[in-house]
Amino acid sequence: MKRIFKSIFLLAITSSLVVSCGGAEKGKSKGAISGNAAEKVYVAPGEHDSHYAFLSGGFSGQLAVYGLPSGRLFRVIPVFSQDPEKGYGYSEETKPMLMTSHGLIPWGDSHHPDISQTAGSVDGRWIFINENNTPRIARISLETFETEEIIEIPNSAGNHSSSFVTENTEYVVAGTRFAVPFPQRDMPIKDMKGEFKGALTFLKVDKEEGTMNIAFQLRMPGFNYDLSHPGRGKSHGWFFFSTYNTEEANSLMEVNASQNDKDFIAAINWKKIEEYVANGGGTKMPAKYAHNTWDDDAHTATTVMENEVLVVEPSEVPGAIFFLPTAKSPHGCDVDPTGEYIIGNGKLAAQMTIHSFTKMIKAIEDKAFDGDAYGIPIIKFDAVNYGTLNQPGLGPLHTEFDTRGNGYTTFFISSEVVKWNIKDLKVIDRHPVYYSVGHLMIPGGNSQTPDDKYLVAMNKITKDRYLPTGPEVCQSAQLFDISGEKMELLLDFPTIGEPHYAAGIAADKIAANSVKIFRLEDNKHPYAVKNEAETKVVRKGKEVHIYMSMIRSHFSPDNIEGVKVGDKVFFHVTNLEQDYDVPHGISMIGAQTSELLIMPGRTTTFTWEPKLVGVWPFYCTDFCSALHQEMQGYIRVSPASSNIEISYTLDGDVPGEEEEL
Ligand code: CUA
Repeated sequence: MKRIFKSIFLLAITSSLVVSCGGAEKGKSKGAISGNAAEKVYVAPGEHDSHYAFLSGGFSGQLAVYGLPSGRLFRVIPVFSQDPEKGYGYSEETKPMLMTSHGLIPWGDSHHPDISQTAGSVDGRWIFINENNTPRIARISLETFETEEIIEIPNSAGNHSSSFVTENTEYVVAGTRFAVPFPQRDMPIKDMKGEFKGALTFLKVDKEEGTMNIAFQLRMPGFNYDLSHPGRGKSHGWFFFSTYNTEEANSLMEVNASQNDKDFIAAINWKKIEEYVANGGGTKMPAKYAHNTWDDDAHTATTVMENEVLVVEPSEVPGAIFFLPTAKSPHGCDVDPTGEYIIGNGKLAAQMTIHSFTKMIKAIEDKAFDGDAYGIPIIKFDAVNYGTLNQPGLGPLHTEFDTRGNGYTTFFISSEVVKWNIKDLKVIDRHPVYYSVGHLMIPGGNSQTPDDKYLVAMNKITKDRYLPTGPEVCQSAQLFDISGEKMELLLDFPTIGEPHYAAGIAADKIAANSVKIFRLEDNKHPYAVKNEAETKVVRKGKEVHIYMSMIRSHFSPDNIEGVKVGDKVFFHVTNLEQDYDVPHGISMIGAQTSELLIMPGRTTTFTWEPKLVGVWPFYCTDFCSALHQEMQGYIRVSPASSNIEISYTLDGDVPGEEEEL
């Protein structure tokens, strides 16, 4: 009986979604856009956008770069998934980036990008993003727009409440969504309660280089840690994580994890724990995880398998961790620019809980507690709560902010964005979105200084918004102008994969630092060539190493003989160009890796294992010049038993030998 009732409740949620999709039709027929919206998003040919927007690719595993306000797609940065367009994850140099304790994982589920900060503002140095499925955090350089580091998170599963940074990029956090045995072990699932744990991981970020290291892991109760945001300003030093399934259910979660009237936001005083750890606190536990770093001098990534992690039990650091009761099964956990308001959106409660940091500190001093959960004090709801926003819409998920005291919250079920005043707890404006919005993004939204101009809503369902493309329809983003009292819808643009969250920043904080070429003289790749005279082919047993160069519009060498069936051929290819925007590509017939797209000054390697005797061509894959179509060469492959020695030429000569004659 109980189950039937709950099923009806869930059905009600589902059907209101259908209604909202249908209901939005009305708005469409009237025309969603009015006034001069077109002018506001028009970026004339040759002009630049004012903002970068980085949208996560979800199950694509990547990070897409758009311009705002145009919504133009500039680049997809490969992060957690192989990408044959750029050779990422196929080249010998980039394969180590995808190494994990489970072996090489060629894909990922990327969720929440967050830009590095200095003094509470986004600084445009790096962008971090989490992988949800095989828990990892990546750091991407915003000078090269390339992934520079990926670190695996041990003792975690469903790395969802990640990868948000503190206001001076002291830490990036990674919180587990699924409670799991910590450390992993063989045990009955039904015994999870009290036995499974929830790892909240704090990664220290190097101030100069940006490199990450796991500073400590908190071994929290086995709840689901869904999302998080750092304190800032007055609450700097704290981190807040929303939780659900405080019931610790292990089956039919849609029902069994929705029993408690309230779940928690976990408030973590990381400064206090940092101090504890600095004084020798915590226990080193065995843990196997991959730490992959890119060396921009050697143009190569390496994997280090780490074997231990520092674990801190909440009970070891009294006064550092508290639970704030929050409306049923909250999803988003957001902190306003002043650091005073901590907002939990009860996705099953039609209610938003706004906590006060000032009240929280006082409640802790007064010990205004309502019992504890596994020894962690639960602060009395009234002692920490600033207020609630009742029924502002259905299915509140995420909130971002402007600098004028307003919050903007997405409502999945009623498909709308609601603007509300935080202090007055009053709704100011609401606008439908098409349809079923998840996250939203205001550039600088996770900082003290959000941009008051644009808001991007990322919608889960697109339905009729674009020309149909078979059963799969792209997901969609919608751009709003939020500079006025009322939100104005400006633009729809399609997205790649499923954009969960996004990060945005003013273009001038990045554009000027963007790398144009890699200097040849700085290239320390062991197989690099600095000029054509250095190109050669060397046999080492069954391995053949080709030290090859590319320049408009030929390869050196471009005729190679003496390769045999059963050999493994390494193409180590250096692009000798030193001009902006002159990449060359290379591909080889039958190669089971991908083509390579090689930037000026860079050396990259792919492998080819010829299976068939013959003379096989290779060619440049990137239209680099008027003679791009002539940029090609041949490799002669002889039988395994052949005695033909390795030889190589360019225009009949052996590269580097003419001068000696
Ligand atoms: Cu080089 Cu096309």
